[in-house]
Amino acid sequence: MVKIVTVLYDGGKAAQEEPRLLGTTENCLGLREYCQKNGHELIVTSDKEGANSVFQKETTGENGAAILVSTPFHPAYLTKEIIDKSPNLKLAVTAGIGSDHVDLNAAASKGITVAEVTGSNVVSVAEHVIMTMLILVRNYNVGHALSMPGGSWSVGEVARNEFDLEGKVIGTIGAGRIGYRVLERLVPFNPSKLYYYDYNELPAEAAKKVGVERVHDLNEFLQKCDVVTVNCPLHEGTIDLINKDNIKHLKGKWLINTARGAICNAEAVAEAVNSGSLLGYGGDVWNKQPFPENHPWKAMVGPNGRGNAMTLHTSGTSLDAQARYAKGTIEIIDNFLNNKPQRKEDLIVDAGGYATAAYGQRNK
Ligand code: NAI
Repeated sequence: MVKIVTVLYDGGKAAQEEPRLLGTTENCLGLREYCQKNGHELIVTSDKEGANSVFQKETTGENGAAILVSTPFHPAYLTKEIIDKSPNLKLAVTAGIGSDHVDLNAAASKGITVAEVTGSNVVSVAEHVIMTMLILVRNYNVGHALSMPGGSWSVGEVARNEFDLEGKVIGTIGAGRIGYRVLERLVPFNPSKLYYYDYNELPAEAAKKVGVERVHDLNEFLQKCDVVTVNCPLHEGTIDLINKDNIKHLKGKWLINTARGAICNAEAVAEAVNSGSLLGYGGDVWNKQPFPENHPWKAMVGPNGRGNAMTLHTSGTSLDAQARYAKGTIEIIDNFLNNKPQRKEDLIVDAGGYATAAYGQRNK
């Protein structure tokens, strides 16, 4: 019997009414049934901040958990300090994709395996990226707001900032599973050019299929693109990748980030949108989740109401995605407990080192 701590968001009424809302404390990824059947102790909580939180109390110490499950949507921040106090912890599972809420270097040094359900929501996110691009470029939100009670028939107020996606130069930072799916979905929109910026090169055949060209220098990449989409993990090399110095290259352009909030500096982005320099910023990820009420992106708005297409962290948590990452989470746990091999692509940190080339360039 092992102890499994699972940190998820509370779904409340929504979770009671919709059993497919699996990523909630109420429906718990199907783990209640799994643990009952296999005799494991399961702690489920949304209480995750501070030393007295259920997460920290149940994970640390000599009675602490062997397995921690969390999601990027309501992340349990597994810091070095908590890892150092968690002698029993052997496996940290991300129910979804993106394990930046875990201090990966600390996990590696303690021999903790970090795994995520690779591929589980890549289509969900790619669809959201395309949607956000269209919302921003077509100035959808301003027209939608004017269509609600109290709005007026001010077509010019919408159209003054409305463009076609066709003919634009579009680039992705990160051309992995999501970035490549975004490129595939953009082809039918007839962009004038597609670029990618990534230290890992796409296979020639894949690049040829979508007609994308690699740019090695970030500033040059930003200068070339009309629309930039961010699709790389958050790690030491991508914090503030878009910052107050290089955001000037995006003057008169659009920026979409569904990867992780901290990849784009919050103040620099808000300043650029509010001043009208950046035509728009959109995505679903925030540098602190849940966001504080005074987060600069909540009040961010460009001239004439344009330019803010933010939403909650939902791009990767459609009901279809939840079914996939709930199943994948149980598989990872079951493999681990029964000494079965994991899917290679699910492993982020394993056997004391990085098992993937996606979380930064480093010597293994
Ligand atoms: P992936 O591992 O297939 O691809 C990531 C790519 O980013 C790799 O090609 C890697 O080389 C590249 N990369 C890493 N560091 C880079 C850097 N400094 N500059 C340029 N490229 C860099 O991962 P996948 O599945 O495409 O997911 C990417 C990220 O998207 C995840 O790590 C996660 O943070 C985020 N995500 C967000 C979701 C959401 O709900 N908003 C859901 C799923 C993922």
